[in-house]
Amino acid sequence: MEDFEYRDGELFCEEVPLREIAEGVGTPCYVYSSSSLTRQFRAFNEAFRELPHLICFAMKANENLAVLKLFANLGGGVDIVSGGELFRALQAGIPPERIVFAGVGKSTEEIIMALKQGILMFNVESPEELDEINHVAKSFGRKAPVALRVNPDVDPKTHPYISTGLRKSKFGMDISLALEEYRRAAGMEFVEVLGVHSHIGSQITSVGPFADAVDKVLALVGRLHEVGVSIRYLNLGGGLGIAYQSETLPGPAELAETLVPRLRQMNLTLLLEPGRHLVGNAGILLSKVLYRKETPVKRFIVADAAMNDLLRPSLYEAYHEVRPLSAMSPQPALQRADLVGPICESGDFLALDRDLPDLKPGDLFAMMSAGAYGFSMSSNYNARPRVPEVLVKGGKHFVVRKRETYHDLIRGEEIPPFLANG
Ligand code: LLP
Repeated sequence: MEDFEYRDGELFCEEVPLREIAEGVGTPCYVYSSSSLTRQFRAFNEAFRELPHLICFAMKANENLAVLKLFANLGGGVDIVSGGELFRALQAGIPPERIVFAGVGKSTEEIIMALKQGILMFNVESPEELDEINHVAKSFGRKAPVALRVNPDVDPKTHPYISTGLRKSKFGMDISLALEEYRRAAGMEFVEVLGVHSHIGSQITSVGPFADAVDKVLALVGRLHEVGVSIRYLNLGGGLGIAYQSETLPGPAELAETLVPRLRQMNLTLLLEPGRHLVGNAGILLSKVLYRKETPVKRFIVADAAMNDLLRPSLYEAYHEVRPLSAMSPQPALQRADLVGPICESGDFLALDRDLPDLKPGDLFAMMSAGAYGFSMSSNYNARPRVPEVLVKGGKHFVVRKRETYHDLIRGEEIPPFLANG
């Protein structure tokens, strides 16, 4: 996380002391580094320069319009999974021909919207969905571009909640049945078969599973050519992990070393859908300590950020490094504690049984590596307004999403007349 570093004992994002942002914008808030985002995108894009390709950022990882626009300006597209994500992508100025649409439950309305906009293709996840797309496209009198999402049955060796390419998973179509489904798709009047899609999971920490998946998918592409179904796009999804601690993991260059030789002679355009890798280490969640509390068996540090702001620790027991904004010197002895939020759930924690510095009320700290699946998974639970997002560029910072107000919390709600005069 080169763009988040201590200078003279103070944690900076690029040229901006994070304390300045905490004081100006308030806590909790998310902070993203535009230089990190740019570097991550360029590294991915550069790694695959030998092949015709498009990087479709998986915007579920971070759907802020400014982040989307930054990637669009660098030539990126997006992987979307809902009508809402399509709307956001278009608002951010992503050209429709750089948008791919996955997800096991696309509604008729979402299919219509995407067809009208002219997206690059649907990643189709079931035979019934394929029928529906064909049916909807017929009413428009135009062909719907599709890839079938196949499930290659590869173990990505990651958290079970984020494994998607196993045979038992709800995603995609079993690869052994795919040939038949491709034959059927090729015979449909309002479907144009363009590609094959596969996404095996997230936070994958070695390239082996990608190699296994691509080999299985390429075997399918070969069979498809033999039966006269020609494929132009190969979409290998996302999933490349990031370091949450100081572990060394393969990056896009190693991924490319694995994939490019296998694809060089294939005459295919490669699509990739990295999410976490582009944004995870480019963002943090800033928070403030409210109280300390000791029971006979445990120490707690109570922060103003909670599981509604950053769900990953509660949902996956995910590790996010905790860094005080002021590096304490001399380094204080670490004490084992739970860092918890104000939410009324025992599962509300940011760090569990962790050796933490002695943070005092009023101290500011950063939850590191929170740029992916941080704000995008946040909620209003316990009627907590969602926090602002800030984008740093050099010595400047920009609020790219305001803090929600209490009025935002009740927008759209109504008390019906029969209750009004009670
Ligand atoms: N493509 C598809 C079809 C996906 O379902 C996903 C993620 C991606 C691409 C991007 O994967 P990535 O490059 O970010 O690993 N909330 C979880 C992660 C869920 C991932 C869901 N799908 C977390 O916080 O770890």
